[in-house]
Amino acid sequence: MSSGHAKRFGITIPPDLLEKFDSKIEKEMYESRSEAIRDLIRDFIAEEDLKEEGRAVAALTLVYDHTRTGVTEKMTDIQHHTGPEVVSTMHLHLDEANCMEILALKGKSSNIRELSSRLRSIKGVKQGELAITSVENI
Ligand code: NI
Repeated sequence: MSSGHAKRFGITIPPDLLEKFDSKIEKEMYESRSEAIRDLIRDFIAEEDLKEEGRAVAALTLVYDHTRTGVTEKMTDIQHHTGPEVVSTMHLHLDEANCMEILALKGKSSNIRELSSRLRSIKGVKQGELAITSVENI
């Protein structure tokens, strides 16, 4: 995870901004201000890494109507021709028409985003949610 001893540094911040921050981190149940700031820094670095086409992991959740012509075939075809990004899938039959598929993805962030867009844009896919995070610095 982290290497070396933790460093301390001072921050100059307007009191009203600090007050708002403290009330937010209390809501999020952070144990300390330091832990909240560490998480913000990690999120910032992860977001920047994603912009730089770094390596990422992601969960893509799709809800689609499998009775619609061609949906299942397109979903399968895209996943078969997508390289090593799809690590695992979970399929749930929600009701007579609807299916939920959860894909665990790993690879270049740009490839993951492209795959996500291709799957979400298939006619018959009703919902698509991509949760992506960088693995460059963890
Ligand atoms: Ni199904």
